[in-house]
Amino acid sequence: MKDGFLLGDTLLARLARARSVLVLTGAGMSAESGIPTFRDAQTGIWSRFSPQELATPEAFARDPGRVWQWYEERRKSVRSAQPHAGHRALVQLETMVPELTVVTQNVDGLHQLAGSGKVWELHGNILRSRCHLTQRPIGSDWLADSPHSPPRSPYVEGGLARPDVVWFGEVLPTAAVEAAAAAASRCDFCFSIGTTSLVQPAASLPLVALEHGAALVEINPAETPLSPYASLSIRGKASEVLVTLVSEFAAWTGHYEVSPHT
Ligand code: OAD
Repeated sequence: MKDGFLLGDTLLARLARARSVLVLTGAGMSAESGIPTFRDAQTGIWSRFSPQELATPEAFARDPGRVWQWYEERRKSVRSAQPHAGHRALVQLETMVPELTVVTQNVDGLHQLAGSGKVWELHGNILRSRCHLTQRPIGSDWLADSPHSPPRSPYVEGGLARPDVVWFGEVLPTAAVEAAAAAASRCDFCFSIGTTSLVQPAASLPLVALEHGAALVEINPAETPLSPYASLSIRGKASEVLVTLVSEFAAWTGHYEVSPHT
């Protein structure tokens, strides 16, 4: 029974004792739902498009129609995407530990769609829009009725609808950043899933967790700058690894008394 578990006995025991679990996710978490990652060679969004031309406030100021249209294409693929078994495994894990916080760099809302209860979006959500001048949210009915691309803002002359995502050079949403930092400081167990660990401040959250004594498990088919610091790096895809890991954790907690000294 003990042999062959992905996490191994020591990490399983630490997960079983954890009062607070942090799950940090990146684009690799959504890859198996059919949403492309950013930096993977050939298939990554930034290998085909220039972020400077499409994902900066300057790009939107230069050519709002082009930027809006590009996001419209991405929104279409997000709307048709469904959470995969890995998203659902995280929902199951949430029922097995006292607290589980998901902090995601993804803008597709798939964790919430799967049923995760506590999700913080560091980079916004592509399915929401806001006025580029007042920053107030613009509802989908208003957008659907507009003949313009991008739709005009309902709030202020000259305002335009823009996606409610964080562009390069912009400040991240304060509430999400603060909640993510707090979750990293208090967690006893941290998963980093499907991220290159290159973009700050997300990349430093697992290191904050480590500094505060948490165990760190990375799930990624490729090595990342975080790998050397991880208690364990599992080289595999998010869905298959998470399904196996959570069912093994369920079996393990059902079979073992967790000793405080494990
Ligand atoms: P990246 O595209 O940089 O990295 C995706 C990671 O997912 C890579 O490390 C892959 O090896 C891994 N991966 C690919 N398929 C996977 C799978 N099936 N299961 C698990 N892992 C897999 O994406 P992020 O690190 O999320 O920001 O990128 C961070 C930010 O950079 C994004 O949020 C975006 C981008 O510019 C903004 O748009 C603000």
